[in-house]
Amino acid sequence: MLAVCLLTFVAALTTAAPAPEPPNGIRQCARSECPVYTDLEDYGLDMWKRRIEPGVWVRKVAPTCNRTTAIGLVYMDMHNYFRDNGINRTTPLMMEISENKAEPSFCPDKSKFFPCCDKTYALLFYIPAVSQATAPPPSKESGVELVHMEDPREFYGITFGGRPVTHNVTAKYKQLSEFLDDKGIPFEDDAFLVAMYDSSRRPLPHRNEILIPIKKPGGSHDGNDGFDYENDGQQNERQESQANSAVQWSPITIMKLFLLYPVIMFFQKW
Ligand SMILES: *[C@@H]1O[C@H](CO)[C@@H](O)[C@H](O)[C@H]1NC(C)=O
Ligand SMILES: *[C@@H]1O[C@H](CO)[C@@H](O)[C@H](O)[C@H]1NC(C)=O
Ligand SMILES: *[C@@H]1O[C@H](CO)[C@@H](O)[C@H](O)[C@H]1NC(C)=O
Repeated sequence: MLAVCLLTFVAALTTAAPAPEPPNGIRQCARSECPVYTDLEDYGLDMWKRRIEPGVWVRKVAPTCNRTTAIGLVYMDMHNYFRDNGINRTTPLMMEISENKAEPSFCPDKSKFFPCCDKTYALLFYIPAVSQATAPPPSKESGVELVHMEDPREFYGITFGGRPVTHNVTAKYKQLSEFLDDKGIPFEDDAFLVAMYDSSRRPLPHRNEILIPIKKPGGSHDGNDGFDYENDGQQNERQESQANSAVQWSPITIMKLFLLYPVIMFFQKW
């Protein structure tokens, strides 16, 4: 009897123990692994600047022009990738919202059907650190891709609660972008991320964030999306000087190859 009481007491103590505080102070990151963040600045009013450290992600573009339906269309394919490979799911679920630069040339009639949307939507999940080296390539049919983010990425962000429904996202994006404008801080305005840390089934409070990419030095943009998976030129060159010998196909590298192309052709003639 005493033993039972004691055991119950011990069990009660154990369950009452607070969950370990995650390194970034985000409660949801104690429950499931988050990407590695480095806080750079706190502007107050739930606004901040952060670096997301290099890592591996899975991503899928939603074949729709409708933000509301985007998550439902690709969520299961991403979920299945984690499940089928025995990889633990992480938080947050990120939605990347990008201006569709391909539209004018690719879609002359400006139809509102994918891929001819004003904006494109993609979902992203971080791969847990322990699985990053071994995560297998997803099947072609799944449309899921592995993204190796080799450089850190910096973002301005704003945290908000509630449900990340479209009008809230729009309002928070506006609040953050106006704050940055007022301070004269330049940012990339053709793409942003919405990070969602809680599934809609979880009790409130929820945590969501808007992340806007910092303005890249030099001002040239590859025109893809804010997350910019390929290595960015300036950072790339800095890294190259650090004896990083991996071949990196940055926009700058590709541009250099273009410039070199006539030279190569010329030499081949001889
Ligand atoms: C987007 O999808 C939702 C849910 O199916 C629908 O209610 C809404 O009308 C759609 N929006 C547009 C602009 O088509
Ligand atoms: C997944 O998470 C559980 C619970 O945290 C842990 O015990 C397990 O080792 C993890 N599995 C992998 C493959 O990391
Ligand atoms: C989000 O939208 C709901 C419903 O319109 C509203 O009650 C809530 O205050 C909004 N939250 C934020 C953070 O804007």
